Amino acid sequence: MKTMTCIEDLRQTARRRVPRAFFEYAEGGSYAEQTLNANRADLEAIKLRQRILVDVSNRSTQTTILGEPVSLPLALAPIGLCGMQHGDGEILACRAAQEANIPFCLSTMSICSIEDVAQAVDKPFWFQLYVMKDRGFVRALIERAIAAKCSALMLTVDLQVLGQRHRDIKNGMTVPPELRISNLIDIARKPSWALGIARAKRRTFGNLAGHIRGVENVNSLSYWIAGQFDETLSWKDVEWIAGIWPGKLILKGILDVEDARAAAKTGAAALVVSNHGGRQLDGAPSSISALPPIVDAVGSSIEILFDGGVRSGQDMMRAIALGARACLSGRAYIYGLGAGGQAGVARAIEIMRNELSVSMALTGVNSIDEIDGSVIVEM
Ligand code: GLV
Repeated sequence: MKTMTCIEDLRQTARRRVPRAFFEYAEGGSYAEQTLNANRADLEAIKLRQRILVDVSNRSTQTTILGEPVSLPLALAPIGLCGMQHGDGEILACRAAQEANIPFCLSTMSICSIEDVAQAVDKPFWFQLYVMKDRGFVRALIERAIAAKCSALMLTVDLQVLGQRHRDIKNGMTVPPELRISNLIDIARKPSWALGIARAKRRTFGNLAGHIRGVENVNSLSYWIAGQFDETLSWKDVEWIAGIWPGKLILKGILDVEDARAAAKTGAAALVVSNHGGRQLDGAPSSISALPPIVDAVGSSIEILFDGGVRSGQDMMRAIALGARACLSGRAYIYGLGAGGQAGVARAIEIMRNELSVSMALTGVNSIDEIDGSVIVEM
């Protein structure tokens, strides 16, 4: 892992080890991928301000997220099918996050279930929730997250319909999944991945299998999921969930100031400025361009987290400088997971930590609280 010096190294390795359909599922965005690309391009366009001769010997990347101390302003984002990037992927990623003392968020659409992860790790983790048509099932999921002592519930609010991802269709990552000869040949070329999956606890949607009557195999589960997108979703549902979930609530998928104002009124502890990693509304602005106006409007009343294109400690610094409390990373750690399981996720976190720490030194700041607009060059 030591020769993996940046997230791009992990990405290249993951691309060789993980079957194409799963790698591209995580990698891709919706439609023409304009928003996916804008997320990266707009982050890269922000230039950091080099400062010299500042004593930075006492700097620290520690901060808090939702009031909890963390070693780094970073949380691992919820990613569907994480356990298909590497066998038991959710457990391994959660362990790496907890060893690094940062939060891990488990997806509703995970392979390992809430209970599997809770049994395998020592500390609480966050749980991400999709509101599905079957509200009884949603309530049961929340109750399972409570029983598993999850420390926050992250409600995804930008996916009441699915943005089309062309690559998923081309790869047969459809509903139901297509078993194609080309996929089988691809898998045969990735024996270490296949061995890991064969040894893993599960190979289907762990939070759903066994919890929905008459729906058991991947095929019928996929059909069930496709029928569960709920176009009626509204702020009333947020209220309903806030009434069931007793802990901290995070609303993920906010890009607009008006929506941010409404989110702040719900009593949620945090919101995530996000365009779902460029996977939903193609043509939407980059996450980083949406961040400053949201911080201006509601930054004093709700904690603001950021996701969308974060691949380095420099990117983390850019988002924090523009007012985010912390970042979420999805693909960056998924590449680590595909490249090397738990050690790969740990490496991804370490790479970003070192990059942030060096960037702090070279911009002359000693603490995360000191990172503000003054570390950015006005262009
Ligand atoms: C689900 O959240 C996805 O983006 O695939």
